[in-house]
Amino acid sequence: MSLETLLDQVREVYDIVEVVSNYVTLKKVGRNYLGFCPFHSEKRPSFTVSPEKQIFKCFGCNAGGDVVTFYMKIKGITFREALLELAEKAGLSIEKQSIGERKEKNELVEFNYKIAKFYHQLLFIHSSSEIARYYLKERGVSEETIRNFLIGFAPFEGRILASYLRSSEADFKKAEEVGLVKKIEDGSYLDLFRGRIVFPIFNVKGECVGFGGRTLEKEVEPKYLNTPESKVYRKSEILYGLYQAKEFLKKENEGFVVEGYFDFLSLWEKGIRNVVASCGTALTEKHIKILKSLTNNWNIFYDGDVAGRKAALRTISLFLKESILPKVVTLPEGEDPDSWVRNQNLDVYSLKERINSLTLEATFFVFEFFKKDFLKNPSQVFKEFIEIFKPVTHPIIKNKIIKDLSFYLEIPENEIRKLFSTQENWLSKAETFTLSEERGENVLKIISQFLVNFPEYFSELISSGLLTFLEDFLDSIYAQFLIQFYEEYKSKKRNLELWENIQFQEVISELLLAPPFEKPEEVLSQIKEYLIKQTKKKEIKKIAENLRLLEIKGKKEEIEKYLWFVKSSLNYNNC
Ligand code: UTP
Ligand code: MN
Repeated sequence: MSLETLLDQVREVYDIVEVVSNYVTLKKVGRNYLGFCPFHSEKRPSFTVSPEKQIFKCFGCNAGGDVVTFYMKIKGITFREALLELAEKAGLSIEKQSIGERKEKNELVEFNYKIAKFYHQLLFIHSSSEIARYYLKERGVSEETIRNFLIGFAPFEGRILASYLRSSEADFKKAEEVGLVKKIEDGSYLDLFRGRIVFPIFNVKGECVGFGGRTLEKEVEPKYLNTPESKVYRKSEILYGLYQAKEFLKKENEGFVVEGYFDFLSLWEKGIRNVVASCGTALTEKHIKILKSLTNNWNIFYDGDVAGRKAALRTISLFLKESILPKVVTLPEGEDPDSWVRNQNLDVYSLKERINSLTLEATFFVFEFFKKDFLKNPSQVFKEFIEIFKPVTHPIIKNKIIKDLSFYLEIPENEIRKLFSTQENWLSKAETFTLSEERGENVLKIISQFLVNFPEYFSELISSGLLTFLEDFLDSIYAQFLIQFYEEYKSKKRNLELWENIQFQEVISELLLAPPFEKPEEVLSQIKEYLIKQTKKKEIKKIAENLRLLEIKGKKEEIEKYLWFVKSSLNYNNC
């Protein structure tokens, strides 16, 4: 494991409030904790710890940073030493243990893969497998798909796997660990899957981490059975089909998220391959982060009944939290993606068109869902709207939602804005300012604060001239910080230089603890305008300099030519 990963893990396992509390008496004030700064003497407490952001900041002496920085300063050791010491205390280490752990995990996924192949083979060779093959055929799953996803069959006898594993005690232990066999009262072992279609579940690297099994009989409960969580199977981060679908998700830069195994397989079978399934577990923030790493364009494709639509509402909020405004495919009552798609009898292009025609923008979907109730009880329903849309912080998405709601609900935008801002959690009060009236250092601070909160705007601000602007301020800590922070953002990898630099840590803490912008979308457009203006100013300065040079040299003809050139390029820019 690299130091960067270790840093992430250390931050995850420690709560900064707890660590600081060992050295400083803290009192809760609002969302933060306050105490006397251990790094300088003071009469009034100005040492702040934010549990949400996991950082500390002293507004007296300016010390600030994350849990590692705090530990480093209080112990008087280096950042690396602090990191390694904290890691060791938490039982994390770069070497021995993690290699051992990795080996153990490798053995488990390899074992799972062996079992997946075992069940897969039984689907073709076991004496009672015909019923399973017939079942899959009836449900429209082709042999190619069966092989692609290593779908298998667990026969009805209860001890097929247990006896298959009998010759190896080590394998037996693994089977028990991943939940494929269970000890029963009489001390013997029974297979988990009996009389089921078996779906191996792969992680994003293609390692087999778990299994799902669907019963072949109507009355058997539960309909689907999953192997439990294990060292290799974390349900909050696994999505069915992701390994096979990821290339299509990237290529099409769009994806569908469905709920069931067969929803996934039927779409896949029909040629729609940019799809993943959540399979029984409710989607988590982790899932959404994984989805976001593949594309920002997601379509929620759930059952057409009320339960499905309610689940879609919940998923919309989750996506919004990650700054994605999803769409929702709406099916008729009583249909799920599997049943619907198989009834369509369309080629993949027409099918995509048909799906498109059933797809609604999230805001419109929410409006449609609540429409009837809204007429009856507007204020109550408006609260529900806010609940769903509350997690959004992204300025442009927030703006769009407000515009859409204003349109659908026929309420003026500023009224909606007001109603939103009275709700807790929604970005609240902050200083207002006009960027062009600020001084250089302050402008840099505002830009930094904006980008720390919304790094996805880096490229937009860079095309407005951010980097050239920063060139003039290389002495400023904010400019240096922004350049390093951009490196980290660009490479999507932790930049240790950034995090072990105390000055940068202080800057980050200051920026994160500053009151949030009241209207981030306005700040964005102010910054852009400012940068463009500065770039223009710089260009004009350069032209004037060139002219002066030519003048000194007395080159009248050249001056004429140059002026003509400048004029025509200005005209060109105006087109
Ligand atoms: P559904 O109940 O909608 O089933 O569950 P389905 O996908 O339409 O199943 P079929 O078409 O009858 O085969 C959706 C998903 O929820 C999980 C499964 O992953 C299923 O695909 N689930 C469902 C369970 O984990 N356990 C259950 O008992 C039921
Ligand atoms: Mn179904």
